[in-house]
Amino acid sequence: MRSKHLLIGNWKMNLGPAQAVSFAENLLSQIKPLAQTDVWVAPPTVSLCDTARVLNGSPLAVGAQNVHWASAGAFTGETSPAFLSEIGARFSLVGHSERRTLFGETSATVAQRAKAALDAGLTPVVCIGETEHERVTGVTERVLEEQLAPIFEQVSSAESARVVLAYEPVWAIGTGRVASLAEIQSTHAFILSLWASQRYAHEAVVLYGGSVNPQNFADILALKEVDGALVGGASIKLDQWLQLIQIAEQTPLIG
Ligand code: 13P
Repeated sequence: MRSKHLLIGNWKMNLGPAQAVSFAENLLSQIKPLAQTDVWVAPPTVSLCDTARVLNGSPLAVGAQNVHWASAGAFTGETSPAFLSEIGARFSLVGHSERRTLFGETSATVAQRAKAALDAGLTPVVCIGETEHERVTGVTERVLEEQLAPIFEQVSSAESARVVLAYEPVWAIGTGRVASLAEIQSTHAFILSLWASQRYAHEAVVLYGGSVNPQNFADILALKEVDGALVGGASIKLDQWLQLIQIAEQTPLIG
């Protein structure tokens, strides 16, 4: 549980440098002062520097969509956590379902990435979630447990306060098929119980992701098991993103 709501925009492979700068400038010019919501954005790597420059000194944080476990070396196409820190990034997503499904990332390497992010002072946002087949065959909990097991091996109790988990059912990503409130509530409760079983010094922070939009967000965020959202499509439409921020500002904090 966080003291503020957390809203993260995953821009995925959208908004190249020029578009990212113009989006960030428009966002800054229209956003109202934030009382109870942290707003983070994850541009594509090539747009990170320019976006970080625009948002520098603002309440908004910038982060990456992925991070490598080594600080430098022969890892073509990867991004060092140290380089991300250097340009002012504050966090990195790890283990997004698109990385797992399209680029073959495993839970073991995702945990290595999360650990390296922590070591570099970045917040890892660890994405987990089941496919539709896994949900209908009743193995969701086992899948989530397997995805988190290497994280539990890597993250110390002291580091546990700096980890964010994002539950994103694969079947709800980019499909317009948001999970039901009952599904979100029970799955988040399960993730919270897994985390609690590790006896970490800090409670889990769990975001929901998957077809979040201004119509469904208020009800999702009102669930006591939900700390915020990881948003794809609606985070790169300025009017929808501003509406989501407004909803978070109006939704009472629980706990
Ligand atoms: P959508 O919000 O477009 O469904 O994407 C969710 C997501 O993958 C965020 O990481």
